[in-house]
Amino acid sequence: MSTAATAAEDLNAIVQSAAERFARAATPAELENAKAQFLGKTGRVTELMKGMGSLSVEEKKTRGAAINQAKQAIEAALSARRQALADAELERQLQAEALDVTLPGRQRGQGGLHPISLAWQRIEQIFGGMGFDVGDGPEVENDWYNFTALNNPPNHPARSMQDTFYVDMNDEDGHPYCLRTHTSPMQIRYAVAHAKRHAAALARGEASEIRVIVPGRTYRVDNDATHSPMFHQVEGLWLGENVSFKDLKVTYLNFCKAFFETDDLILRFRPSYFPFTEPSAEIDIQFSSGPLAGKWLEVSGSGQVHPQVVRNMGLDPERFVGFAFGSGIDRLAMLRYGVNDLRLFFDGDIRFLSQFR
Ligand code: DAH
Repeated sequence: MSTAATAAEDLNAIVQSAAERFARAATPAELENAKAQFLGKTGRVTELMKGMGSLSVEEKKTRGAAINQAKQAIEAALSARRQALADAELERQLQAEALDVTLPGRQRGQGGLHPISLAWQRIEQIFGGMGFDVGDGPEVENDWYNFTALNNPPNHPARSMQDTFYVDMNDEDGHPYCLRTHTSPMQIRYAVAHAKRHAAALARGEASEIRVIVPGRTYRVDNDATHSPMFHQVEGLWLGENVSFKDLKVTYLNFCKAFFETDDLILRFRPSYFPFTEPSAEIDIQFSSGPLAGKWLEVSGSGQVHPQVVRNMGLDPERFVGFAFGSGIDRLAMLRYGVNDLRLFFDGDIRFLSQFR
């Protein structure tokens, strides 16, 4: 074999061995190490170049060209392997960071009405269907409407049944402002606001009546599982020529049947005391089936409106006779939805509230 042929075989072997080393390199760092062994300062190809010094000009030409060719072949193998490693890395990343495009998208949570609002709306609807107007009045009340006009004068012991928050200010008549302890002051406000209508009807010799409910927020110094400093009541007032306890019973029973969506329900009056009614009664209801069956449940205060209260409305107690009631909306909602702690309504916990959507 000629020297030239041997030299060519050497070069082929080097190219071959470089290709194998590159193929074995599993990472870019290993590949760069392998490259140095062939193309680096002391690499095998570089050594061959250095060894050409003793050759003749003619030999240098052919040998140089052959070495260059081998070098190019090694560089081509190197960049092919680089590309292959880069592709593999990209593929690995794509796999690792893959998005599942079939997952459902994120949506805005669906809102809903608060259970107290739901109960409130039901109450308005049901009484609305029985011919009751729906009134609305101030939560910051003065002590005339909240107590005195309701036959509950200053220093009367019944005031202590309803401790409230006072505002450090009096109205123009010197009555202190307070947060209303019940919706009952709206009995007076509503009647006074409609005084002209009644006077006109009576002047025409016609009967006039008041039939209204007033749902709203009320406040007391109270805080436990069944009392909260802020709570909701609905006031009812029906005054006319001949409105009696019988009407109260029928009206309230029909309301409860509609509110609780059942006919399996009885109602009783239990004697009680309120300064603004005489006689006064608590209304209890009892279900004959369901989780609350057999228990008397107190749902409302009520009574025949006291003649003095009717006078404070600017009306003649001989012509305006009837009943009033005041029920806890929160209490009604607790019974309807089976909630045993009032505070759950006001914690604002979305896990609780979303059950009522
Ligand atoms: N205002 C009373 C309370 O909060 C409830 C009440 C009782 C209202 C009798 C009435 C009524 O209208 O006639 O305790």
